[in-house]
Amino acid sequence: MKKMVVNTLAYIALLAMAFSLASASDPSPLQDFCVAVNDSNQAVFVNGKFCRDPNLATPNDFFFSGLRLPGNTSNKLGSMVTPANVAQIPGLNTLGVSLARVDYAPYGLNPPHIHPRATEILTVLEGTLYVGFVTSNPENRLISQVLYRGDVFVFPQGLIHFQLNVGTTNAVAIASLGSQNPGVITVANAVFGSKPAISAGVLTKAFQVDKNVVEYLQSQFWTDNHTY
Ligand SMILES: *[C@@H]1O[C@H](CO)[C@@H](O)[C@H](O)[C@H]1NC(C)=O
Ligand SMILES: *[C@@H]1O[C@H](CO)[C@@H](O)[C@H](O)[C@H]1NC(C)=O
Repeated sequence: MKKMVVNTLAYIALLAMAFSLASASDPSPLQDFCVAVNDSNQAVFVNGKFCRDPNLATPNDFFFSGLRLPGNTSNKLGSMVTPANVAQIPGLNTLGVSLARVDYAPYGLNPPHIHPRATEILTVLEGTLYVGFVTSNPENRLISQVLYRGDVFVFPQGLIHFQLNVGTTNAVAIASLGSQNPGVITVANAVFGSKPAISAGVLTKAFQVDKNVVEYLQSQFWTDNHTY
């Protein structure tokens, strides 16, 4: 009888482990919250970042007014992403979610990019967006759609995705992300704008183009449409 209980417990523990391995967002918090601090003298324990003593937490730790105003879209892409993640809201630490406001000038583009740590669900507040993502190899299937005000679209974690304002007015969207720190890899910036540059030999073969095409692309200024 005792052995069976032990076996059952072992089984439950294994099951719990399997579920936690399969969970796709940031790990579950072990406490109500863990307001991030960078001064270890004010900290109580470490969980990715130092946490502020919960008794010292203030409303400001959970607050951000930076999405009130539109981002400045006067750049080559005609778009700007204003994030609201753990870098702006220390109270998000360990909680596994974040937001970004995306502004688009007419015909503005949020160019092909990846969030390595989060799935995104985008809500259009104003305007008309052509959006899409591409599935992994070998299919590389484009899944795309035109979105209108109030529409919602999902970009699965780690897949290349984009949004283009196809309307004649400004557009605004809110991206919700399943990580306190989703990360961004803008494809063109990472491949053609890396510092130092990836050798032309690598890129001519990868993209099957002449060296002068690679050199042209590497000499461009690759706009980063994010505020930090
Ligand atoms: C520590 O965090 C505060 C805000 O919480 C910030 O003003 C300060 O610049 C940070 N210091 C370092 C060294 O990152
Ligand atoms: C927007 O950005 C452009 C280019 O950097 C700059 O010239 C302009 O002053 C900015 N506008 C505002 C309102 O900050």
